[in-house]
Amino acid sequence: MEKEINILGIESSCDETAASVVRNGRDVLSNVVSTQILIHRKFGGVVPEIASRKHIEHIMPVIDKALRDAQLQLQDIDAVAVTYGPGLVGALLVGLSAAKGLALGSGLPLIGVNHLEGHVFANFLADEALKPPFLALVVSGGHTSLLVVEDYNTFRLLGQTRDDAAGEAFDKIARFMGLPYPGGPEIEKLAAGGNPQAIDFPRPLLPDSYDFSFSGLKSAVINYIHTEEQRGAELSRENVAASFQEAIVDVLVTKCKQALLATGLKKIVLAGGVSANKRLQEALASGAREVGAELVHPTSILCTDNAVMVAVRGYYQYLNRDFAPLSLNADPSLKLGTL
Ligand code: KG4
Ligand code: ZN
Repeated sequence: MEKEINILGIESSCDETAASVVRNGRDVLSNVVSTQILIHRKFGGVVPEIASRKHIEHIMPVIDKALRDAQLQLQDIDAVAVTYGPGLVGALLVGLSAAKGLALGSGLPLIGVNHLEGHVFANFLADEALKPPFLALVVSGGHTSLLVVEDYNTFRLLGQTRDDAAGEAFDKIARFMGLPYPGGPEIEKLAAGGNPQAIDFPRPLLPDSYDFSFSGLKSAVINYIHTEEQRGAELSRENVAASFQEAIVDVLVTKCKQALLATGLKKIVLAGGVSANKRLQEALASGAREVGAELVHPTSILCTDNAVMVAVRGYYQYLNRDFAPLSLNADPSLKLGTL
């Protein structure tokens, strides 16, 4: 019988403290997430110092629970995989220090995981047949990147945002409209009651490039709201949300279709927090079909930050003997792929 490989994944890059055990990169034995969303909501966004302090309080109980839920002990684990970037440096250091302590104390190998690669690898759980090469659209609070996953360890960047990330645009517009943090899900909820064609917001499509730019769209939405308020007009918040969401989705889908046609790839995966957006999933699935390709996206709980994705990514690094020294440091601006 093939040996079972159990990877303990640890994640603390932003406002979720998470740990998970995944067997052979496929079977989720546990998935523990302690979220700080309600704490940061009072401040309208993540406060780094508070995030670090909360991670310190939660990291060991979360890891203990992940092992208990998996009904395993540390000696049953084959490697400890931990996010070492990108993210908030103080937050990253908490998970990284815990992982190093466990690796040192137990003699287990340490694996340093790129958080964004983790988001991409969550898709291996959604589609058992998924195999590189495929296209990936990473849309999170800090990143918007389009890349080719050439094999399990080679990522070629086609384009990325030149200003705001997609999630950041959602969060900023939500904040401007007085909606709570994080804004993406709130905009999506409001948009459900609005008309996506009501307001013709700009679709910034940078020609001859797979790069994105959302700051002009953000300003257009803010200007629209200001102008309508000054006119004393009755503003439909639902229509603003729906039309704004549609503009972002349109830009993302257009670029993905172009990239699918240019590369000839037949599968595209969605990754990062914004991948939870149902309108994006629906529009990208139909856009992909139009060019003879298929969309894969993670299940809802694996769209936002979690440690399952870290363990899955770690599993493929384990197979590649890609181990990190105990001197591994946090890298807050760790990049995804090479140009
Ligand atoms: O990947 P993630 O959980 O954290 C980062 O690594 O950044 O992504 C968080 C981002 C936030 O900007 C949040 O507003 C956005 O993902 N998001 C959404 C939705 N759910 C989360 N954006 C649009 N629609 C959603 N349903
Ligand atoms: Zn993330």
